[in-house]
Amino acid sequence: MPTSTELIARDDAHVLHTYARSPLALVRGEGMTAYDAEGHAWLDFTSGIGVNSLGYAHPAWVKAVTAQAGALQHTSNLYYTAPCGQLAETLCARTGLDRVFFGNSGAEANEGAIKAARKYAADVYGAKRSKVLTLQNSFHGRTLATLAATGQDAFHTDFGPLPENFAYLPANDPAALTALDGETAAVVVEFVQGEGGVVPLDGDWVRALAAACAEKDILLVADEVQTGIGRTGTLFAFEQYGVLPDIVTAAKGLGGGLPIGAVLMKEKVAAHMGPGSHGSTFGGNPVACAGANTVLQTLDEAFLAEVRRKAAALRAGLAALPHVENVSGLGLMLGLALAAPYTAAAVRAACEKEGLLVLTAKARVRLLPPLILSDADIGAALTILRRVLA
Ligand SMILES: Cc1ncc(COP(=O)(O)O)c(C=O)c1O
Repeated sequence: MPTSTELIARDDAHVLHTYARSPLALVRGEGMTAYDAEGHAWLDFTSGIGVNSLGYAHPAWVKAVTAQAGALQHTSNLYYTAPCGQLAETLCARTGLDRVFFGNSGAEANEGAIKAARKYAADVYGAKRSKVLTLQNSFHGRTLATLAATGQDAFHTDFGPLPENFAYLPANDPAALTALDGETAAVVVEFVQGEGGVVPLDGDWVRALAAACAEKDILLVADEVQTGIGRTGTLFAFEQYGVLPDIVTAAKGLGGGLPIGAVLMKEKVAAHMGPGSHGSTFGGNPVACAGANTVLQTLDEAFLAEVRRKAAALRAGLAALPHVENVSGLGLMLGLALAAPYTAAAVRAACEKEGLLVLTAKARVRLLPPLILSDADIGAALTILRRVLA
């Protein structure tokens, strides 16, 4: 097997340098632990940025994915497959939404949501109703439309012209709701802004927003790409906010490590997305759907109650660490604000040296551990963080 140094050199020579990577080449994983070619181990509190919801090589997930790969790996959307229908049925039953479109990523799911919202508005109210409101400091993806939806100028620079008619509201500001006018098709929100620094929205404001949307028939779109699939302690974060969005997007944790995105919607929106209105070659891929079905079967109510219990324990432990000013987030999506001179980037690098993988989001250290973590894993991560922050 090539050494870590060889793996890194080859990658660096040929892969586009769009990521600031850590000098780690991972070759396998088991549960909460990732290993390099030399056998070094890291306790992984990143889940591949919120993706590996069941950790590495979860036995039921591996079994379902390998069985499906051996039986039927792809068909295109010209034909029906069992895993796709099963996943759609489960997602609808567990959300109260009516229909789903499958794609391959979070950005693609959000693209689909924007298209579905604009189609509904155009059909019902005419072409002028195309404005999409999102929030300042939001993040919705890297395609051109989802960049336009992303309310952070830094992501836009040099990539214009971007798709038009997106505008950005200040979160949690009651006065911002006056922007919901007759030309607005949809408002898109993340209940916890992930890339924006693990910032949860205020519940009362979200409910006021949902009421204003309902009153004006403006579609409320929840980007649950990062918050969804048990990450915040319920299957979707909207359950904790007490609102049912018209459209919900999911990706990241849904496939348990395979690329899949989903756009869930109410029938009133779905009715406007007829044949030819949208598509994606790999969407609904049976292997990805088989992985997602195992994730959803695992995330039953008892499992989610355990996520909430472990999240509370982790949060309490983090809040008690030296030099942690506050802990933000919801469930197992947590951000740490650090006292100077500690910076998120330096703490992340120091944790890595000590055998713990963590993320950053803006100025915060961000933790997105696999949902299967144990109390012992929480203790081990806190021990390393305490040493790093001593
Ligand atoms: C809230 C949110 N939306 C969309 C995306 C984009 O997802 P993807 O990278 O799968 O396209 C992300 C990724 O971080 C995200 O956090």
